[in-house]
Amino acid sequence: MTGQNRHGETAKQRRARRARERQLDYQRAKAARARGHEADYEAAMRLRSARVRAKLERVRAIPADARVLEVGSGAHGLVFFFGTSRGVGVDPLADEYAALFAAWQHRARTIAAAGEHLPFADGSFDVVLCDNVVDHAEDPARIAGELARVLVADGLLYFTVNVHHPVYAVAARLHSAWNAAGLRLEVGPFADHTVHLTVAGARSLFDGLPLRVVEESAGVADAKRAAREHPPRHAGDRLKRLFFKNAVYELIAERRA
Ligand SMILES: C[S@@+](CC[C@H](N)C(=O)[O-])C[C@H]1O[C@@H](n2cnc3c(N)ncnc32)[C@H](O)[C@@H]1O
Repeated sequence: MTGQNRHGETAKQRRARRARERQLDYQRAKAARARGHEADYEAAMRLRSARVRAKLERVRAIPADARVLEVGSGAHGLVFFFGTSRGVGVDPLADEYAALFAAWQHRARTIAAAGEHLPFADGSFDVVLCDNVVDHAEDPARIAGELARVLVADGLLYFTVNVHHPVYAVAARLHSAWNAAGLRLEVGPFADHTVHLTVAGARSLFDGLPLRVVEESAGVADAKRAAREHPPRHAGDRLKRLFFKNAVYELIAERRA
């Protein structure tokens, strides 16, 4: 028993491939809608990048020539309007995004690679960003290790991931098990992600890494409030009123020497 499917993939690799396929379909549809409205997208991206930069600059000023890496830079990552002349975006789908979103993707050097194996030497970057990525990837803990590895001593990390009530982690494992057994029945939110992390699970990604936490929040109260305030559109929304979903775990940390 190898645990591999007929393509020679482990269950984790299959989930990650499927999540990438679905992400690409989603971004292709978005690119079609975005055509002619690029300025609106850019304005929203500038705002988001400026907010994150301001949070990091509360810790330390970031010079205009800072070496900034975004892991999982995606279609609309932070790096494209972060305000550095030395921005690099890494994403397995980087080549596809460069073609789909040409209006802004050229603003950083983008590289098609996986965050689990960053093609950079230790200590190559002053700032590392990873925003809403690791639960789409094969090995979130390995990515966390890479984020710390490529940061220079005293470099700044900005990290987010969606976190959920533990009930969704159980449901995600069931979803994965029945698909691995060949019973194809995809439920969107589970197929889009490789894992549904709890707050403790997100925190534990950084266990033992040479990082000093500067700020950390889990956003659980906000997610619960949003579920209560929005009229439910389907059963999933009703469930969210009982068991919170899509809270944002946010971490700002500094690399220890
Ligand atoms: C929800 S999107 C977020 C993109 C971007 N950070 C943003 O907020 O707009 C998740 C991204 O993670 C990327 N991704 C998937 N697996 C990855 C991996 N192993 N390493 C790095 N990025 C990965 C996907 O291609 C996708 O672009």
